[in-house]
Amino acid sequence: MVKMIVLVGLLALSFCVAMAADHSPLQDFCVAQSNSQVLLNGLACKNPSMVQASDFSFSGLHLSGNTSNAVGSRVTPVATTQIPGLNTLGISLVRIDYAPWGINPPHTHPRATEILTVIEGSLEVGFVTSNPDNRLISKILHKGDVFVFPIGLIHYQRNVGKGNAMAVAGLSSQNPGVITIANAVFGSEAAISSDILAKAFQVDRRVVSSIRSKF
Ligand SMILES: *[C@@H]1O[C@H](CO)[C@@H](O)[C@H](O)[C@H]1NC(C)=O
Repeated sequence: MVKMIVLVGLLALSFCVAMAADHSPLQDFCVAQSNSQVLLNGLACKNPSMVQASDFSFSGLHLSGNTSNAVGSRVTPVATTQIPGLNTLGISLVRIDYAPWGINPPHTHPRATEILTVIEGSLEVGFVTSNPDNRLISKILHKGDVFVFPIGLIHYQRNVGKGNAMAVAGLSSQNPGVITIANAVFGSEAAISSDILAKAFQVDRRVVSSIRSKF
């Protein structure tokens, strides 16, 4: 029995470490104090007696994002920066707009699972499982369809409909984080050595330079 409890405890611990999801709150709320200099995991709390409805609210998600850019999509986040009351609550939201054939390029959220629903148009969506299989799990979604991108996995969306598309997604972190693969690898500041990228992607260094010049 004791062994069993220890085993379950260890399992729970390893699960926490591996998944890196947001911790549970220790109070009703902890509205982020915007000007706090305190550094901690999350954001410092405002005095609860000073908290107002506006701390839990955001307006403007009915407005479409500007998709005039190289990838043809725009993510409008509603996370702790937009709603200070989300601090410690382990959840956030985004609106994503797509021009025709626009993509939300391959990226991962290091701290969140994402659940996405198509509000307008049609999207091809997909994620790739971790090594060694790297299996692509993908689907065409239409208005009202829902899809899940598991925490940490590389995923993308592409507008495959005739007009603009729009989706809304919930994420299991107050601050999901985004690592866009192309930008992180080819656009890092400072640059990763061309030799490393040439070998990693099995291409000539000139190809690396050519891709790098775009980021
Ligand atoms: C959208 O973004 C483009 C490129 O940055 C800019 O030229 C254009 O004025 C923007 N459109 C609107 C409506 O803000």
